[in-house]
Amino acid sequence: MKDSHGRTIDYIRISITDRCNLRCRYCMPEDIPSISHEEILRFEDILRICRLAGRLGIRKFKVTGGEPLVRRGCLPFLKELKALPDTEQVTLTTNGVFLKDYLPELQALGIDGVNVSLDTLNPDTFQYITGRTDFARVMDGILSCQACGIRTKINSVLLKGVNDHEFWDLIQLARDYPLDVRFIEIMPIGYGRDFQGYDRSSLLPLLATRYPDYEVTKKTRGNGPASYISIPGFQGYIGFIDAIHGKFCHQCNRIRLTSDGMLKLCLYYNNGINIKELIRKQADDDELLTAMQDAILRKPSEHQFFHTALEGGEELRKMSQIGG
Ligand code: GTP
Ligand code: 5AD
Ligand code: SF4
Repeated sequence: MKDSHGRTIDYIRISITDRCNLRCRYCMPEDIPSISHEEILRFEDILRICRLAGRLGIRKFKVTGGEPLVRRGCLPFLKELKALPDTEQVTLTTNGVFLKDYLPELQALGIDGVNVSLDTLNPDTFQYITGRTDFARVMDGILSCQACGIRTKINSVLLKGVNDHEFWDLIQLARDYPLDVRFIEIMPIGYGRDFQGYDRSSLLPLLATRYPDYEVTKKTRGNGPASYISIPGFQGYIGFIDAIHGKFCHQCNRIRLTSDGMLKLCLYYNNGINIKELIRKQADDDELLTAMQDAILRKPSEHQFFHTALEGGEELRKMSQIGG
């Protein structure tokens, strides 16, 4: 359906858990209390919401976390999501630690793509950033994904003084494999506020010093906000996701469902509807559908990340509780 700003909303990001098996410095650097099992939406409720969302024209489903693969039952859930009548696409965004273990099942259910977070190619830096020693498993997951032909994108958050010197090495992944490497500008959400990052306006001129014949492409290569360039001789594309300095709100196509049952309308704002409460009050499908429709019509036009002073209304959740 269209929102009140004329944007077609056909995509939902579903965070199925706020738990994670990594402790990335900019996301969940320490143990934070996780949502209790009673407060988490049951898979059958999520599927009901997705089925109704399909009737509103939302046909593309992105499953995120925390780390989605740590929730028990994730694979059967993905399979059922894929089988809903209106589903066009189911993709997963993961930190890659369990990717290889679940790959046969992901392939069997026909997953349409996997995005893997990878900020470094150095095991020590991986440990520094994520607090864990799983670098080899993540790499193995990425390469296995490639080997079985699953569409793969790498998400890298470059941080000043942490991993920015790895820009060139990370790019090479798109030369050596048919996968896209996307550089994400850090957003001032939760712990992300403590870091300084990079956007396309500084990374592209740098890239041009070694690859002057790169070409800007209008291809979207998915449903997300990334803008891409191609480099001759590379198998994959290089992308940039610049939520702050390359604001893409005018073409936003998405809403979000948090694992505690909030239908969120914009990453930045705290508003939305408590869909879990409606479900627990025994709302029928028509009531849920109307509530979802009304919410989408209230989707804000754009984020306000530029405003440094808190003005009220902005999200106080951490990134791991939203799912990116
Ligand atoms: P595809 O390219 O279709 O796979 O999707 P995607 O790039 O949207 O998904 P992914 O989960 O890999 O997210 C990559 C980055 O984009 C993460 O840092 C997200 O937080 C960010 N992102 C995704 N959607 C939005 C959005 O609507 N607003 C903002 N500000 N950031 C977003
Ligand atoms: N800003 C931008 N991206 C972030 N991610 C986590 N926290 C932030 C943030 N504050 C990224 C992760 C992952 C994706 C889902 O979101 O690195 O790749
Ligand atoms: Fe976990 Fe992803 Fe957050 Fe890292 S960025 S702590 S992998 S949810």
